[in-house]
Amino acid sequence: MDFLRIKETPKLQGSVKISGAKNSALPILTATLLSKNPLHIYNLPNVADVNTLLKLLEILGASFERVGENHIHIETLGVRETKATYDIVRKMRASILVLGPLLARFGYCEVSLPGGCAIGARPVDLHIKAMEKMGAEVRIENGYIVAKAPKGLQGAKIIFDKITVTGTENVLMAAALAKGKTTIINAAKEPEVVQLCEILLSAGVQINGIGTSELEIIGSEGELLDMQDIRVIADRIEAGTYLCAGAITNSSITLHSVIPQHLQAITDKLEEIGFGFEVGEDSLTLLPAKKLQAFEIITAEYPAFPTDMQAQFMALAMVCEGVSSIEERLFENRFMHVSELQRLGANITLRGHIANVSGGAEIKGADVMATDLRASSALVLAGLIAKGETNIHRIYHLDRGYENLESKLRGLGVSVERLREEV
Ligand code: UD1
Repeated sequence: MDFLRIKETPKLQGSVKISGAKNSALPILTATLLSKNPLHIYNLPNVADVNTLLKLLEILGASFERVGENHIHIETLGVRETKATYDIVRKMRASILVLGPLLARFGYCEVSLPGGCAIGARPVDLHIKAMEKMGAEVRIENGYIVAKAPKGLQGAKIIFDKITVTGTENVLMAAALAKGKTTIINAAKEPEVVQLCEILLSAGVQINGIGTSELEIIGSEGELLDMQDIRVIADRIEAGTYLCAGAITNSSITLHSVIPQHLQAITDKLEEIGFGFEVGEDSLTLLPAKKLQAFEIITAEYPAFPTDMQAQFMALAMVCEGVSSIEERLFENRFMHVSELQRLGANITLRGHIANVSGGAEIKGADVMATDLRASSALVLAGLIAKGETNIHRIYHLDRGYENLESKLRGLGVSVERLREEV
């Protein structure tokens, strides 16, 4: 297993090119199951989660060719298999995104239940209920969701009790091939959901309400779609993470290939802390702060502050003056980074869903353990300001979602090495 060794880096400088969004790439790849023609996907991040999903699609019978590091040509017409097995789904929960498209196209599928994960129970009950509402018969058998809709899916009114990103995406894809109209109430509005809507729209599906919490989709009655080539949007969470790297070292750095509007909750918070920005059409430069003020965060659905940036801002709070408060509202157990940051010297008290961070504690390098994707990036950020060296173990979590992490960090002046654990 690999680990990362990061040396304290008082100032960063330079620029970093942001990759395509993992969370957009995943539903895009599963949406290709709805396509009658092969297509090109550009700006596809070469990260472990995307490669896991490509593997799953290949097992189902899809074929793809890697034209470049971030460009594939994919064809799914040959798909015959409809079972997403445990060995793949356990690696990546987002494999659940095959449920809607497989069921809509074949009228039958089996998808392993993802099970719990490090950040909480994360059930998929809302996905299942929505498929049932659309006429599917679903049962859980031997750890699998077994779903049948022999006569095809039927449009329905789906009211989500909670806003769910992948749940909304699954229903969108299912509805695209269903009979009649589907309405989704309380739909997710994340940019990744919007991109999926736009892709389906350009494939001829009628969708109203894109970008709002009420979506209306008119299905194709089982006919596969005429999907066009796709360019994956920029990863707002990767971008936010690099902004935090600049911020924690109070440096000026520039991000390229970003969509600044998607980052507003993050840049607003950084402005509150004391940073400035120069905003270009697809670039963003962070300007240093005179003084870093403590802040408050409550995570919520887009366009509010993303849960996927909570851990990185906790690392940033370690260098702010005063006590910052971070409340996690989406996931029940998304604070595993707290004990690792404490190992480095952070002064954090945790009460239920709220973490209070007193800035200014002395942070010293240590061996720490990555626990999930975003928690791991908080440890990388902490490593930038920790005295001496920080070794981050179990970095396969980082590889799930950060493309070329070390070379991007090195481009900003960070001394970072990937080393092999001695066994
Ligand atoms: C997606 C993102 C993830 C992000 C999360 C919240 C992808 C691949 N992943 O995850 O990075 O952290 O949105 O922005 O896009 N819930 C249920 N039942 C369900 C579904 C969800 O109770 O059937 C709950 C979840 O446990 C959670 C909340 O709803 O508390 C929101 O989860 P959801 O939006 O579904 O997260 P994901 O789509 O899994």
